[in-house]
Amino acid sequence: ALERTFSIIKPDATKRNLTGKITAKFEEAGLRVVASKRIQLTLAQAQEFYGVHKDRPFFGELTEYMISEPIVVQVLEGENAIARNREVMGATNPADAAEGTIRKEFALSIGENSVHGSDAPETAKEEIAYFFSGLELVG
Ligand code: CMP
Repeated sequence: ALERTFSIIKPDATKRNLTGKITAKFEEAGLRVVASKRIQLTLAQAQEFYGVHKDRPFFGELTEYMISEPIVVQVLEGENAIARNREVMGATNPADAAEGTIRKEFALSIGENSVHGSDAPETAKEEIAYFFSGLELVG
């Protein structure tokens, strides 16, 4: 089915001018960018967005990193967009990521891994609503 997912191009990638190259990977995979904006998170916003990880040992490192540079938040639309986006991203740890994936080509480490993508329909819906109003989604 036609689906929408939420994507973040993370600080390590925006800093290295990889926004276009990463967006091209999404588009080549049949995902349409139906919303996109460059923002810089506050610490409170990063902590809220990653709230599910608040008890993990890397939470402090993760949230500080996510506010260290601007990010690009996007909504991607396509057939099975959530799974397709996860395929294009590759494994969380670039050391485990398959050839041709974004994380294999661009990620620096498990933390500085260039992209985030929703993991399920419910989280996609929540994450899209956190960053975008309905008017900003142009399919
Ligand atoms: P993301 O998909 O954005 O969701 C949670 C993030 O936590 C994940 O990508 C990684 O970038 C980060 N993460 C996961 N494990 C570790 C770790 N061991 N050390 C640092 N960051 C991590």
